[in-house]
Amino acid sequence: MNNFIFQSPTRIIFGKDSENQVGAEVKKFTKKVLLHYGGGSIKKTGLYNRVTASLKENNIEYIELSGVQPNPRVSLVREGIELCRKNDIDFILAVGGGSVIDSSKAIAVGVPYEGDVWDFYIGKSKINDSLPLGVVLTLPAAGSEASPSSVLTNEDGWLKKGTGSDLIRPKFAIMNPELTFTLPAYQTACGVADMMAHIMERYFTHTTDVDLTDRLCEATFRTIIDNAPKLIIDPEDYAARAEIMWAGTIAHNGLLGTGREEDWASHSIEHELSAIYDVAHGAGLAVVFPAWMKYVYKHNVSRFVQFAVRVWNLENDFHHPEKTALKGIEKTKEFFSSIGLPVTLEELGIMDDRLDEMADKCTAGDTVTQGRFVKLNKKDVYEIYKLASE
Ligand code: NZQ
Ligand code: ZN
Repeated sequence: MNNFIFQSPTRIIFGKDSENQVGAEVKKFTKKVLLHYGGGSIKKTGLYNRVTASLKENNIEYIELSGVQPNPRVSLVREGIELCRKNDIDFILAVGGGSVIDSSKAIAVGVPYEGDVWDFYIGKSKINDSLPLGVVLTLPAAGSEASPSSVLTNEDGWLKKGTGSDLIRPKFAIMNPELTFTLPAYQTACGVADMMAHIMERYFTHTTDVDLTDRLCEATFRTIIDNAPKLIIDPEDYAARAEIMWAGTIAHNGLLGTGREEDWASHSIEHELSAIYDVAHGAGLAVVFPAWMKYVYKHNVSRFVQFAVRVWNLENDFHHPEKTALKGIEKTKEFFSSIGLPVTLEELGIMDDRLDEMADKCTAGDTVTQGRFVKLNKKDVYEIYKLASE
């Protein structure tokens, strides 16, 4: 096990009606917030009314900025930063999914920063100050409600980049599984793929003596695999919604990666897809991850065998462990398909051939590599896109 520091300070307020506590939580920090949300789902579901009522009850003034798009854009973030500065706002309240939370995090770091917020996403500046933020989560997927990261898209060049700092972990996350009843089945499935990907990015490692986190990863995988299909049948299954919602946070608050080297190549490879084609991140991962697995599994067959046996309950073929490893990969793909996700680029709606361009962007013109399990150069990334076409 590697040395590590782990701090996950987000206060989780979980369960039925928990959104009604939002005003009381915000009050601990401020009397005035930026209420940031997306394209209107929170108005349709009535959540907007409950959140604003709770803010009013607690005498919290709020200024609104709506319109966050999936794959959130830097242009709206810049607008949010100006709005906060003009109105002396010192707390951001995100009500929505990963895109709203990431946009809120970007505003939070942009307000106290003199330069352009995009600097943080291209590594030109490091985050050393941030406004605090809180979250009412409506979509379990990105894990941003307790993660130290934010991912933004810059329309100028369609670049999708991430930044991170413990300073942007939300102060609180209100998580009521009932708020996710209204999710379209496809969005639920995309969330499931994303949270599984967050575990896989950590599970596939060469670090040895990580039994505890291996077992925690496997338990979280199993919980997701058992409960996700229930939601496709009954979107209002509270028990299953609750398991999936909590799994999404556990998958990405950092706990499962403690003491081990993480990979993250598949995320970088996917980000090129959602940057150019504006596809849902989770759907992109369902296509990319099995392709990545096929490309790299020979570098540590026993780890892939462990995945096949413990996560998918497959029997090990002792004489041909590679076959077992491949079966585990196939099972992963079948599972994604079974919950309605695309597993090839074509199924994702990508017919044209921009693979070389994406591989080039992903590796900054073949000057950097992606991933740690195997360090991938431009040609490797290109081959993974090719495998994702099959
Ligand atoms: O905009 P509204 O109208 O709210 O609709 C949203 C949006 O269209 C809808 N939605 C959300 N909650 C709903 C709902 N519809 C009905 N009922 C509800 N309860 O769902 C759509 C997608 O929302 P979005 O926030 O984009 O999805 P998600 O949570 O999957 O977030 C994806 C973003 O997170 C980034 C991704 O790259 C992507 O940009 N990620 C962020 C990470 C982080 N900060 O730690 C890590 C992840 O790996 C990921 O990269
Ligand atoms: Zn992700």
